Amino acid sequence: MARFPALLATLLCACYVRAVAVPSTPPSGAVSVDPSLVSVSIEFFAFPGYTNITGSNNCLANLATLRGAQPAIRIGGTTQDRATYDSSLQTSVNYTVASPADAPTTLTYGPSFFSLANGLKGDVTIGLNRQLNNQANSLSAGAQAKSSVSRLLALELGNEPDLYSSSSPIASGTGWSNSIDISNEANWFTALAPTLGNIFQGAVYLSWSTSTLISSIGSAGLATIKTISRHSYPQSACGGASTNLPSLMSHSGIVSYVSQYKAEATAAHNAGKKFFLGETNSATCGGGGISPTFGAALWIVDYVLQSALIGVDRLYFHHGTIGNCAYCWWGTSAVYSPYYGAAFVSEFLGTDGATLATLDSGTSAIATYAVYSSARAPLRLLVVNTNYFDGTGTRASTSVAFSGLSGSTKAAKRLTAPDATSRTDEGALVTIGGNGTFSSACVGQGTQAIESVAVSAGALTVSVLASEALIVYL
Ligand SMILES: *[C@@H]1O[C@H](CO)[C@@H](O)[C@H](O)[C@H]1NC(C)=O
Ligand SMILES: *[C@@H]1O[C@H](CO)[C@@H](O)[C@H](O)[C@H]1NC(C)=O
Ligand SMILES: *[C@@H]1O[C@H](CO)[C@@H](O)[C@H](O)[C@H]1NC(C)=O
Repeated sequence: MARFPALLATLLCACYVRAVAVPSTPPSGAVSVDPSLVSVSIEFFAFPGYTNITGSNNCLANLATLRGAQPAIRIGGTTQDRATYDSSLQTSVNYTVASPADAPTTLTYGPSFFSLANGLKGDVTIGLNRQLNNQANSLSAGAQAKSSVSRLLALELGNEPDLYSSSSPIASGTGWSNSIDISNEANWFTALAPTLGNIFQGAVYLSWSTSTLISSIGSAGLATIKTISRHSYPQSACGGASTNLPSLMSHSGIVSYVSQYKAEATAAHNAGKKFFLGETNSATCGGGGISPTFGAALWIVDYVLQSALIGVDRLYFHHGTIGNCAYCWWGTSAVYSPYYGAAFVSEFLGTDGATLATLDSGTSAIATYAVYSSARAPLRLLVVNTNYFDGTGTRASTSVAFSGLSGSTKAAKRLTAPDATSRTDEGALVTIGGNGTFSSACVGQGTQAIESVAVSAGALTVSVLASEALIVYL
């Protein structure tokens, strides 16, 4: 009978305490973090429209302020391979669609497309067409990009060639495969490099391994490649496939998912190239109901950091058709739940964060991280409780006891929402620091509250609810 009250207390508390020692310098496995780790991809045809939205500038500027560096922008996607450059076109893009929710099946674009790209404040990567097999056209577009866009980082030639088929014009009726694509990338890169420079973003694969391209493209082709891009979508709603929010946001699930890219990142780095998830987001084909949620915001926080740990230099979160984009961070006059994750992880990394370390084994639902300064001192801790709370029943909490600290009190800031399914576009309140939100034009508003956490004998304990995250400032 003596055990009964203790059992009852455990059931009522629904909490769990874990102990985490904070290394005083970056531990083994810690990685240096690119200042533009959190970056943005914009669908090719929609890019001019995005420059017309106040939220675009403000949402990017907020991330730049929090991290101290501009997010990089990649302009590309499926419609880059449907686009033809027209040097006499007076508008940035020209196409017709039956409904504003549609992406065009064909389009032209003119020189002012690149003037708009020159207005971006971060590194710019632009995706040009390869599928239509008009090399002269992509060369003239690339030359215009080079002369117009002062922050041009790289040019892609083709998007997701793994999805090309033997009926694609580039296949010239002779079939299509990974090995054919690799020799085709080599041919195009080496043909265009004398004019455009060694400026290409290679691979741009959705399902093929970028390591195979690096090992078999040959030294002449490899020399023209500046960066390597792999596309990554953990889930899909295509063809009626079902999506699952608890599995999207699961910490152990994210660790396992991201590990598939480690060998590719290593191969790119060994070849002296940056490795990017050059187009990524939560779920393709409309998001299956999970993409616009607060759970997706928590996924972003953990996915960004786990990707950095296995060697991803940048993640470019994709933005599609304005007004028809479940995983977008913002729209014409709205900021969506996932953006809060992008802002929170940018705040955690901060303007001074240089090195990132995980403090857990990646096997539970609780993610713990530390970020260190360039002087190797711990700056901030992060807890992400990825246990799924859907708004029904009791919301469990987990306590994390950090040790190895100094001082007597620390500040903390919380990212929270009513539950993992909360959507700002359905009126739910997602907050940073209890009251911090973003206006419809992506201007930060509300006073963010700082929680005070007592340090006793070099240790502090924080409690984080299921489907919630917390930063501790050291
Ligand atoms: C930008 O907005 C203006 C006014 O709202 C509109 O006339 C114009 O067509 C828009 N341009 C693009 C590229 O969306
Ligand atoms: C724009 O595209 C339409 C077809 O969608 C075409 O009829 C029209 O001539 C084009 N305009 C220009 C200026 O190229
Ligand atoms: C939250 O911020 C709003 C401004 O957006 C302010 O009016 C309100 O007083 C704040 N509430 C709290 C509890 O801090």
